[in-house]
Formats: sequence, structure tokens, C-alpha cells
Amino acid sequence: MSDNNATIEDYFSEDRVFTPTDNFSKQALANDLSLYESAEADFEKFWESQAKELLDWYEPFGQVCEWQLPFSKWFIGGKLNVSFNCLDRHVLAGRGGKVAYYWEGEPGEKISVTYSELLDQVSQFANCLKNLGVKKGDRVAIYMPMILELPIAMLACTRIGAAHSVVFGGFSSDALAGRINDAQAKLVITADGGYRRGATVQLKSNVDLALEECSTVDHVVVVRRTNTQVNMVAGRDVWWDELITGVSTKCEPVAMDSEDLLFLLYTSGTTAKPKGIMHTTGGYLTQVAYTHKYVFDLKPESDIYWCAADIGWVTGHSYILYGPLTNGATSIIYEGTPDFPDKDRWWDIIERYKVTILYTAPTAIRTFMKWGEEYPSKHDLSSLRLLGSVGEPINPEAWIWYYTHIGQSNCPVVDTWWQTETGGIMISPLPGVTKLKPGSATFALPGIFVEVVDDNGNKVEKGGGYLTIVRPWPGMLRGIYGDPERYRETYWSRFEGRYFAGDGAKVDDDGYLWLLGRVDDVMNVSGHRISTTEVESALVDHPSVAEAAVVGANDPTTGQAIIGFVTLKSGETQSSEKGEELRAHVARVIGAIARPKTIIFTDELPKTRSGKIMRRLLADVANGRSLGDTTTLADPSVVEEIRSKASDSTAED
Ligand code: PRX
Repeated sequence: MSDNNATIEDYFSEDRVFTPTDNFSKQALANDLSLYESAEADFEKFWESQAKELLDWYEPFGQVCEWQLPFSKWFIGGKLNVSFNCLDRHVLAGRGGKVAYYWEGEPGEKISVTYSELLDQVSQFANCLKNLGVKKGDRVAIYMPMILELPIAMLACTRIGAAHSVVFGGFSSDALAGRINDAQAKLVITADGGYRRGATVQLKSNVDLALEECSTVDHVVVVRRTNTQVNMVAGRDVWWDELITGVSTKCEPVAMDSEDLLFLLYTSGTTAKPKGIMHTTGGYLTQVAYTHKYVFDLKPESDIYWCAADIGWVTGHSYILYGPLTNGATSIIYEGTPDFPDKDRWWDIIERYKVTILYTAPTAIRTFMKWGEEYPSKHDLSSLRLLGSVGEPINPEAWIWYYTHIGQSNCPVVDTWWQTETGGIMISPLPGVTKLKPGSATFALPGIFVEVVDDNGNKVEKGGGYLTIVRPWPGMLRGIYGDPERYRETYWSRFEGRYFAGDGAKVDDDGYLWLLGRVDDVMNVSGHRISTTEVESALVDHPSVAEAAVVGANDPTTGQAIIGFVTLKSGETQSSEKGEELRAHVARVIGAIARPKTIIFTDELPKTRSGKIMRRLLADVANGRSLGDTTTLADPSVVEEIRSKASDSTAED
């Protein structure tokens, strides 16, 4: 274990196991190993049958997968249209009156839209796009709040074969300009503003600034949301409501090739230039429909499904739009923050709409832990039957809190590992089949093949290493827009023949996978390579702690020393005794080697706009360096506060 070349060591152990209940398994879509067995027996045949079962094709495909490492093509020659699969076919089958989305604005407005209403609105806006000169193969940038016009705009693009590039509404004008230019977008769709925590955020004014740097955009379509005063440029800018007036609600969907570009989505990366991740049509849609169906055990007739992500992230693309609509689900879309007007907004929504499935991120769960269980306990959450998590490793105690206080100890929790690049879920339990271990994403889904390897690319049967994917999969990225070399270099150069995701993982005695965070974050303490995730989970295991981030700081004796940044639950007091208690707790749970040298208390941790902890900035603070790139930070004041606390605590040391 003390070998300097050991990949990532394995300290934290979690012994609790939750077996699916008979009641759940009996009603589940998957309740035996047959999906695993058929995928194992012939994985191309497996994906072929998913693609045929879950989607409608205008023209059938021939070859299932063409694999010229690192480039794959799926469902060769098949023709289909995404909006047809998401909308028309449900209407044609007599399900047009079913609600597709219950939308709720932050100030409280409520709109429900059925599949046939959505089809009309999408078709109408698709005609408007054509009238503005958008053609098959063009790129359209979308920069909007979480209002219904956002999915309408995305689906309208797919109807006419234009690729969308959604830019999260929290990004700056610079970030928007960079993405518009990289994609050479012809059109931008935005709103005057959006609501967030009771205030309005400007969007159109950011678009105006961005467009000073962009030359490819002919028009900007603007939705009226906040009625904020905006500047409309004559000949370029047009109001959505004026544009659609009198336009036909019938628009023939375009038959797209399975490998035609469906969308670009830029990953922010922490330092480098954003990468335009390319997803195509048939493979992506197959994987998101399949995973949405089986991971969430979706029963479109009875479930009310809520993925509480932002549509601007891949989670929203795949599991608010494309997966749920392809499967004919009824979903919730909520525009605002969870603490408006109070910290129980989500639980109120779940109670009122009788939500059955909730999919969210560990960052949200830890925030709810910090606020306390009195907020969910005010509401009737008994409609819930399944919970999901995505975006970061979920610490076992956060998992247990979610299971107990939200799921009322009655709902399986599916921890789903995947990435913008993978398009859809890759590692996850099947809730009617898999025994759950809190904090483990368990196993690769049927049809997905992963291995953990060591520094030399040899398979690790037990213990920590690098998570790699060993066979192509239908939803995989097809490349980085305009940069095939960077694609090869970023994902395929570290281990020959394998996709390397950048994440560490460990395999336990039962073959379960435990995600250990980004390998760039691994610390080296006296020659031991310790994952930040394990030490953080040990800190969150303490009853006073809501959230923790650890980083390595240079240390003359141990190489790196562990510094823990900790947010306590509300009502707990920050003190040096508490810091001592936490250091001792980590030593007890995972061993003295992982005892943090210093604990720094903070009310907030620095996070990206999608809620991931930015350890790189904490490492800058801990090492007394000037801060690197902070442009992806959600709230820059948080780091300043931590910096002043860190210098206080160093003075005490
Ligand atoms: O580090 C992993 C982490 O999030 C990364 C992908 O981020 P992004 O492309 O923004 O997509 C987020 C939504 C899919 C991964 O490389 N990650 C995501 N899900 C998990 C996770 N880490 C641990 N456990 C997860 N369930």
C-alpha cells in the first residue's frame, strides 16, 4: 500500500447494503439479470433491439456499430427525427392529451402542456426558424432561463435538422461569445431575463455584449419573461411572440441520418478552452431512452418524474428533454432556486404534483442537509418511489440522509455516473435488481463495459485505479467540434484502446464500483495516493458536517498535507475543538495517514455553476498561490472569504 506507484489507495469502507424490496422488484421493468445476460452475450444485438424497440425509424439501419478507434458510428444508414420520436408518435398513438410538462415559474405561475400542445408549439417555432433562414446542418445558440420556450426551441431545431448549442443562462457574455464563435452559430435564442432567488437576471444584455465579438449571427429571437427593458436591434432582433403570430402549427419533420449532428454542448473545463462535445442522432437517442426507462423504472402511465437539473447541462438535455419525451413521460420543470420563497420549495412541489421520481445532485442534497430535515418533514413526500443522484460522488452519509429524509426509507437511490461526453448514464444500479451500497454507483449498465486499470493500463480486480471504458457505446461523443486531434489526445491517449474519463474509481470485494473523483485531485501524502472523495466522505460521516472539500497543500515532511474545508450543519458551532474532533474522526474512520493537518470552517464552498466543488481553487488557497482561472466559479466572493479564513488559521498553526 505504501508503494509510490500504487494508483489510488483504498481506505474508506462502507458496509451497509440495501436489497430491493419484494414490492419494488415485483413491479419493476427489470427485476432479473436478463438485460445483463443478453448484453453480455451479444452487445451489438442488444443495442440493436433497444434502438428498434424504443425508437421509430423512417428507414431502418443496417450495421449496428462501425468502430474505427476512437471514432464510432451507430445504426448505420438509419433515418429518424428526434422531435418525431419525442412528440408526433405519442400524439399519433392517441396520447396527445397526456401532460408532457408541468412547468412552474419561480414567482409561482403554473402551466401544463400536453404532448399535442407541445407538438403544435414546436412545429410553429420550427417554421419560424425556417423563416429566419435556418437550415438543416446550421447551428443555433440558445441562452435561456428554465422556461417552456427552452425545450420548444431545442425540439424545433431537431425538427428541421439544425444542431443546438445550449449555453447555461448563468454564463457570462464572454463565455457565450466564445461558444457562439466556436460553433459559428447563425441564430441566438434568448429571453429578456429570468428569475432567480426572487431577483431577475439579465440575458438579452449579455447577448448584446457577446455579439459585439461575433460575426456569424444573423438574428436574435427574444422571449418576454421578466419584461425588463432591453435594446432590440432593428433588422437583427425579434420578439418570440411577434415571430410566431399567424405562423402554421404544422411542420413536417426532416428525416435525419442516424449520424447527423444533434447538438453541441460545451464542457466548461476548469482551465482550458471549452470543448464543443458533439452528439449525434440515433445512438444518443437510443441510449438516453434506454437508460431513462430502466434506471428510473419509468412507467409513463403513472409516474410524475422530476429531474431538477438545469436544461443548460447535459443532465437536462438527456433527462429533462430527450429521454423522458422519447418515453412519453410526464415531467416537472421548475424555473428557480430551491430556497424561494423558502427552503421547502422542492418539497412543496413534490407534494403538490405527487412526484414519484426525483433526480438531483449531491450538491443539492448536501445543501438540504445543511438546512435541516425540518423543511422536508413539513410536507407529504409519500408519492416518491425512486430517487436518483448525479454529478459528483455522493458521500455515504448524504446518500443515507437522502434515503431517510426524502425517500422515507422506502425508495431505492440510484447513484448514476456519466459525463457530458458519454451522453447518457453509464454506471448505475437497476433499482429492481441491484443491491445498493450507499456511495457506490454499483455496476456498469447492461451494454456498457468498463474496467478500472492501474498506471500501466492493467486491469485492477480490487482496489483503486483509473476508470476506463473498453467498448464503444451508442451515446458516446463523436468528437470535439472542429478538433479531432484534441479529441484523440484528451480521451484516448492515456491508455491504449480505452476511453479514459479522467475519474478515479475503486472496485470492492463484491465488484462494486466506487467513484473517487477526478484523478487530478488525488493527493500524495507520504507516498500514499489518497482520493479527496474518501476523506470528504469521512468528514461528512461526522454528524455535525454537511459538506466538505479536501485538498493537498505542499508540506516539507509529507510531500502534501491534507487541508479540509468544512461546512457545518445549521445550528452547529465552529470552534477549534470541533476542528480537533473532525481530524480525530477522519483518523478513526480511515486511518491516521488521512488525518487532515488543518480544518478550515466555511459557510460555503466554491462551486462551478453546475454545483461541483472547485478543489483547484481551494488548493491555490491552501498553497498560498494566486488564484488560477475563476471564470467558472458560481460565486467569487466565497473564495475571498475562505482565503481570509485560511490565512487566519495558518497564523494559528
Ligand atoms: O467526475 C465525474 C462527475 O462528473 C463528471 C462529469 O461531469 P459533467 O460532464 O458535467 O456531467 C455531469 C452530469 C452527468 C464525471 O467525470 N460525476 C458525474 N456523476 C457522478 C460523478 N462522480 C461520481 N459519481 C457520480 N454519480
